Amino acid sequence: MYVCICLAITEAQVKDVGRTGTVAPAALIDVLGLKDRNCCGRCARQVDRFVTLAWEGAGEAEVRPIGTARLQTQTSFA
Ligand code: FES
Repeated sequence: MYVCICLAITEAQVKDVGRTGTVAPAALIDVLGLKDRNCCGRCARQVDRFVTLAWEGAGEAEVRPIGTARLQTQTSFA
């Protein structure tokens, strides 16, 4: 099932990204290109859905993602 129409990103692709350990919102937006010029921006504003899928992928791979979400949030406001 597609989760991003602009970039034709599927749920499976987001889970694959999660399997690499990328689960933080800002990292997902960057890796998946959700703020690229050709995107409508809807997905970047609703990134929680992508985070949930990425964590599902990480869990399936038994990867322990590094807790970068908090660090990225903190540094983005510094
Ligand atoms: S539908 Fe994903 S950025 Fe537009």
